Amino acid sequence: MKKLRSVTNLPEKKKAKKKKKFLIAETITPYISLNRSFENLIDKIIHGDNLTILKSIPKNTINLIITSPPYFKQRDYGIGIGNEKTTEEYVENLLRVFSECERILTNDGSIVFNLGDKYLESSLQLIPFRFAIEVQKRFPVKLVNNITWVKLNPTPRQYQKRLVSSTEPFFHFVKDDGYYYNLSDYINNNGIKNKRTNGNNIGKRYFDLIESSNLTLEQKKLALCELQEVIKEVRAGKIESFRMKIKGIHSEPFGGQNGGRKYQLMKKGFTIIKIKGNPIKRDVIECAVETIKGSKHPAIYPLYIIKEIIKLLSRPNDIVLDPFIGSGTTAVAAKDLGRRYIGIDINEEYCKYARARIKNLNENKLPELFT
Ligand SMILES: C[S@@+](CC[C@H](N)C(=O)[O-])C[C@H]1O[C@@H](n2cnc3c(N)ncnc32)[C@H](O)[C@@H]1O
Repeated sequence: MKKLRSVTNLPEKKKAKKKKKFLIAETITPYISLNRSFENLIDKIIHGDNLTILKSIPKNTINLIITSPPYFKQRDYGIGIGNEKTTEEYVENLLRVFSECERILTNDGSIVFNLGDKYLESSLQLIPFRFAIEVQKRFPVKLVNNITWVKLNPTPRQYQKRLVSSTEPFFHFVKDDGYYYNLSDYINNNGIKNKRTNGNNIGKRYFDLIESSNLTLEQKKLALCELQEVIKEVRAGKIESFRMKIKGIHSEPFGGQNGGRKYQLMKKGFTIIKIKGNPIKRDVIECAVETIKGSKHPAIYPLYIIKEIIKLLSRPNDIVLDPFIGSGTTAVAAKDLGRRYIGIDINEEYCKYARARIKNLNENKLPELFT
């Protein structure tokens, strides 16, 4: 920025020339030297080998790492990880990168690795799981979730003797139980909350079931009374919905303690389960495979998933790092959500493309994503 300001007194033609020069210098970050200060890496897409660059980052400084390394022998990115001779070598190389990620992560941070699997001689290798198991054996981390991405539009293949793979794991690792977690911001379906509050049929079938049950008269009276109360709660929007279990009609719950549902069923002849407004947040995320018009990168993960993960696992202004940045998805998502970013890729063309995507975001250009 400083350099750009210094050209303001030059004649117009010269100014344009200089500006162009400096802009180019700004957009192409050269292979960094290890003594480049940490602050200089922030909000940059850096061209280079991730292991070398990660080693220049101080420990306990990065709040969130989200990444998707190249699949084993899937695509030819020219150089870098994914071209190893064996799955074992490939997993070892990923573990080296993970080791650095674990070192630079803050104690309340998270690491999310998205990996794809591979068939070799018609046998699925379970590579993502081999990696996750080794991580747990070798590093002081915990696996919080295996979030399964269900691809809504998998590549349509016509295998005669196997089904089409359409899922990929996102492994969520942490260093400590005190990891930052903002569940209320993750995949919110507020639009469908309490959509049945005005219905006249709420709980109607339970009136009939109570009537036809073998409960005593006293039990039936109490069941009808509690049923009317819970219906009022749904109508008032205090709870989302409810389920009722009636002795002799519904199956008994397994196990349970005194005072629990099984006990209520035995004593009162019925039990009512209230369902609060919060939708269940599952370890499954459904989303189409991303395609970007004119993309220079063959394997882009969905911006939607990455944004949801960033909202779940980081605060505004936190630093989000991706050591295999590719087309820049993680940085675009981070920037758009007011987080800082660091992206690394060994392929200079991808770095340029990632920077262009971020620039488009800065300039509020129309979204370039088509699914
Ligand atoms: C699957 S792609 C990442 C795609 C990215 N998630 C996106 O949405 O565009 C993996 C990337 O890792 C890069 N890569 C492979 N080995 C690397 C290494 N040792 N250091 C840095 N980047 C590497 C490849 O050039 C490739 O762009």
